[in-house]
Amino acid sequence: MKDEFKSLLKEKRVFKPSKEFSKNAHIKSIQEYKKIYNYSIKNSEKFWAEKAEQLHWFKKWNKILTKNGCFFKWFEGGKINVCYNCLDKNIEEGRGNKIAIIWEAEDGQAKKYTYSKLLDEVSKFSNVLKSHNLKKGDRVCLYMPMIPELAIAMLACARTGLIHSIVFGGFSSESLKDRINDCKAKLVVTSDGSFRNGKVIPSKENVDAALNDCPSVKKVIVVKRCNNKISMKNKRDHWWHDEMSQVRYHEFKAVEMCSEDTLFILYTSGTTGKPKGVLHTQAGYLLYTYQTFKWVFDTKDEDIYWCTADIGWITGHSYIIYGALANGATSLMYEGAPTYPNPGRFWQVVEKHNVTIFYTAPTAIRALMVYGDKWPKSHNLKSLRLLGTVGEPINPEAWMWYYNVVGNKHCPIVDTWWQTETGGILITPLPGAIPLKPGSATHSFPGIVADVLKDDGTKAKTDEGGYLVIKKPWPGMLRTIWNNPKRYRETYFGKFKNIYLAGDSARIDKDGYFWIMGRLDDVIKVAGHRLGTAEVESHIVSHKAVAEAAVVPIQDEIKGQAIYAFVTLKKGILATENLKQEITGHVANKMGSIAKPSKIQFTDDMPKTRSGKIMRRVLKSIAEGTKEYGNISTLSDPNVVEKLERGRSS
Ligand code: WT7
Repeated sequence: MKDEFKSLLKEKRVFKPSKEFSKNAHIKSIQEYKKIYNYSIKNSEKFWAEKAEQLHWFKKWNKILTKNGCFFKWFEGGKINVCYNCLDKNIEEGRGNKIAIIWEAEDGQAKKYTYSKLLDEVSKFSNVLKSHNLKKGDRVCLYMPMIPELAIAMLACARTGLIHSIVFGGFSSESLKDRINDCKAKLVVTSDGSFRNGKVIPSKENVDAALNDCPSVKKVIVVKRCNNKISMKNKRDHWWHDEMSQVRYHEFKAVEMCSEDTLFILYTSGTTGKPKGVLHTQAGYLLYTYQTFKWVFDTKDEDIYWCTADIGWITGHSYIIYGALANGATSLMYEGAPTYPNPGRFWQVVEKHNVTIFYTAPTAIRALMVYGDKWPKSHNLKSLRLLGTVGEPINPEAWMWYYNVVGNKHCPIVDTWWQTETGGILITPLPGAIPLKPGSATHSFPGIVADVLKDDGTKAKTDEGGYLVIKKPWPGMLRTIWNNPKRYRETYFGKFKNIYLAGDSARIDKDGYFWIMGRLDDVIKVAGHRLGTAEVESHIVSHKAVAEAAVVPIQDEIKGQAIYAFVTLKKGILATENLKQEITGHVANKMGSIAKPSKIQFTDDMPKTRSGKIMRRVLKSIAEGTKEYGNISTLSDPNVVEKLERGRSS
């Protein structure tokens, strides 16, 4: 593999779409892409309005785009329902008996929902929600594993005009509490437990712990999944199956929503310890996920599409549920872990359900690659025709393995760059049109003007690194941060006027290909999951033995990045291996095990400027062992560096 990787870089090999693939693709050639792209930029509002005609509207919009500084509105005056577009519209178009969701349980059981059946369930649950006296715009928190009820609950929120805030099931009760309190959710939907690697994770117990401190929550609905023992609080807690069986009406008319009403909030990490509630609205988000799903995954009616993300992240929102169902696709939802009961699980599911399009994260690819070719090779993967990746840069080695071994050298790989904030994919190959370069997300999606700028706002030269920005608004972009428009303005539009700052560094090569180089802010991507350094640090510091903490990312062969923590203990406390483990466990408890530091180094001092600011770049080079500290003359005590270097945890 290593040699292949080298020759790849030497040859600068480009993978052109095959004639066969292009022939049937929505966009068939680079010329056609360029034509569409140029049109979409010159007539951007017209382009989006034409695409919006494909959706079902109760009432058409009056104005395509309204700008107010860095605040944008799309399709104002329009009336629409996202759930109606995902379900009723498909049934009207004759897809009532088509499978909407294939659910594969961790234990190998499977369940299928046709569009009609899904609509029945969603309508019933919409009535359940209504019976709890929730009104339009109220927040509902979904803290659930990957079970069909999660899809049903989110679509029911969309149908009834409630705002969902999904919290990833791997987050701890503390993180859940913060996210519930920030948006003052009135109702929580959860399950008794969740299966992970054959074990039961006590979801309901986490909810109970969080709710000791969440006065806004009046009701909890609990799906029975694992049959683990839980306690149900009288009047507050209700079983999902009881509620569903008591529903008097099985139909629920989709509520007519204004284009700019909120569809959902999704919390993500940023520079401060407090996660931000990224807010997405109805029409623009639906349109953007609809159009990107169609073109990026080049979907056809007969495809079986599988995105392995958890619905608790934006990828699952946009490309398991909304974008996929709005296109009338068959979307597979998998409950478990990639390596349970063995590292062939993903490939076994592909074979079992004849998956044609497979979308996953580089972390998962690298993790599975370690187990060797024998796992994918022991399954029939002939159904696959397109592969995709998301979440972090993919190294050419993993790309080649994915291409050769999983895709058997005939499936294009769409490396899709986007963010929670962007709602959908912005930089990506269109698989029938754009030649691939392993490791590059290639070009902007139609309607998107991505660029790379230098600090002074001028355009970076070819191959010169700089700030990745988006220069035109697009329908799927976040509208604000929940309850914090100031943070929205400062974070995304504070650096360059009226230009969206992504937070990533990137370069553009001589052929106009984008290469994403990683985050420029205090965000760490552990296994593709986005964590804020400040959030992790605050949890370390909340341990009784800790006085101060600073975390930095280090390279990790599988996870891409991992967390290295520098910790100063309180006076008189002994630095022991046991204590390291205790702190690690503490972080897992407080935030979830994804936030666990992989290394901890105890230190009496931090490298600080004279004004007391920790110099993270120094810590980073110590953690990575590069010794490239840069200028350290501004440190209040330059000797600290040497001490830290001696104590390095390898
Ligand atoms: C950050 C956004 C987008 C859904 C999942 C992550 C990184 C994302 C790529 C890619 C290189 C990527 C960026 C971005 N990222 N996709 N194809 N190549 N980097 O969403 O948690 O909001 O994270 O993920 O750093 O800013 P998110």
